[in-house]
Amino acid sequence: MSLPDAMVPMPRPDRHVPFLTRVQIRDYKSIAKADVRLGAFTILVGRNGSGKSNFLDALRFVADSLRTSLAQAVQARGVVYEIKRRGAESPRFSIGLRLALPDLKTATYSLSIRALKGGAFSVGAETLAVRHGSGPVLGSYSVADGEILDCSIDNPPPVPSDRLYLVNVSGFPEFRAVHDALAAMSFYNFNPETLKVPQKPDAGDLLHRDGSNLASVVARLKAERPEELERITQYLAAIVPGLSGIDRLPLGPLETLQFEQQIEGLTKPFGFFAWNMSDGTLRALSALAAARQPGMSLVGIEEPESALHPAAAGALMDALREAASQTQILITSHSPDLLDHVDLETDRLLAVSFENGVTKIAPIDKASLSVIQDHLYTPGELLRLDQLEPDREDVSRQEEQLSRPLEDGDTQA
Ligand SMILES: Nc1ncnc2c1ncn2[C@@H]1O[C@H](COP(=O)(O)OP(=O)(O)OP(=O)(O)O)[C@@H](O)[C@H]1O
Ligand SMILES: [Mg+2]
Repeated sequence: MSLPDAMVPMPRPDRHVPFLTRVQIRDYKSIAKADVRLGAFTILVGRNGSGKSNFLDALRFVADSLRTSLAQAVQARGVVYEIKRRGAESPRFSIGLRLALPDLKTATYSLSIRALKGGAFSVGAETLAVRHGSGPVLGSYSVADGEILDCSIDNPPPVPSDRLYLVNVSGFPEFRAVHDALAAMSFYNFNPETLKVPQKPDAGDLLHRDGSNLASVVARLKAERPEELERITQYLAAIVPGLSGIDRLPLGPLETLQFEQQIEGLTKPFGFFAWNMSDGTLRALSALAAARQPGMSLVGIEEPESALHPAAAGALMDALREAASQTQILITSHSPDLLDHVDLETDRLLAVSFENGVTKIAPIDKASLSVIQDHLYTPGELLRLDQLEPDREDVSRQEEQLSRPLEDGDTQA
């Protein structure tokens, strides 16, 4: 299997990678207290039901609330009681984020949503501070229970208790970049069946969460950024030997994908439609297309290795790592084969465990880290031995850090 040569991507002045540098969560689904740092390429690993998807979902909740509305973000997850951690003493759940923006700007943003009787909810508190590096504050606000406590703009708009204030102030230049970048986080969970059936065409500018407009995304890539499609095809050829072309094929009012595959001994390639392609090929193509989308601040992908042969894991990791030089990538995995290719020099590995009904997320414990650094084991081998656990000391530090509410300014890194 030949891998494409490393390509040095052009730097993007409109983006800073990693975008999310620190995430603090309280009482979101199974996560009681989490305070973790993310890298350009972060891998969350842990057993089924440990809380990996809940972590991604907390970030998706923020993006959904900004792209649609808070009410729709809650509704898409059932009712507010299903989002707030069961058994939590507090009636709220909170998310705090530290962001890195272009031009050396940073921001801290936090929100806390209060669950009210009968499934209603309100914004308990929301704060934002945009800085130049660690220097002066360029813009800030702090709102709580429908009141403005502090705001850097004159005549600030009123505070709705059922919407995020960031939406209301997104027209002000000092807040715009934060709003747009948080709304540009996208999360994926692909289903091969959705990828195989004919799809409805659209503009192809944003890949849907389940990949249901992949053919349109490929068509747009081909028209506007053919070198990106070429790169995706090269990686896919390292995963599926002989694959030489990907294109959109119109089918009346619908469309599908058409693949060209070179078969040994034949001069002409075979053409296959999406419904003839393997699940692993379609999922890998979706993951690569998601990861290389322009304009995203962060791309989260659930188990991108699912349905892939172990020998293809290295090519997938290389492809995701290359994409992470342009867009922050966050994946979940329980694949030892994928973890065999983790490089702790560049990648960030977070272990997730579920203890007494609560999720713990932290870098892997120091003993495991040291055997990996001494090249005695790979992270994949430790996963096979069930030896990848969150570092206890870091978990204790997180609990100490989050013993106060997020809105006290804990999001300062
Ligand atoms: N509101 C809630 N309060 C407490 N725990 C919750 C809540 N909602 C879900 N959970 C817990 O979260 C678990 C699901 O976690 P999640 O989907 O993040 O697992 P995962 O690590 O992604 O697993 P897999 O690898 O199977 O996808 C459920 O099994 C349940 O125990
Ligand atoms: Mg999951």
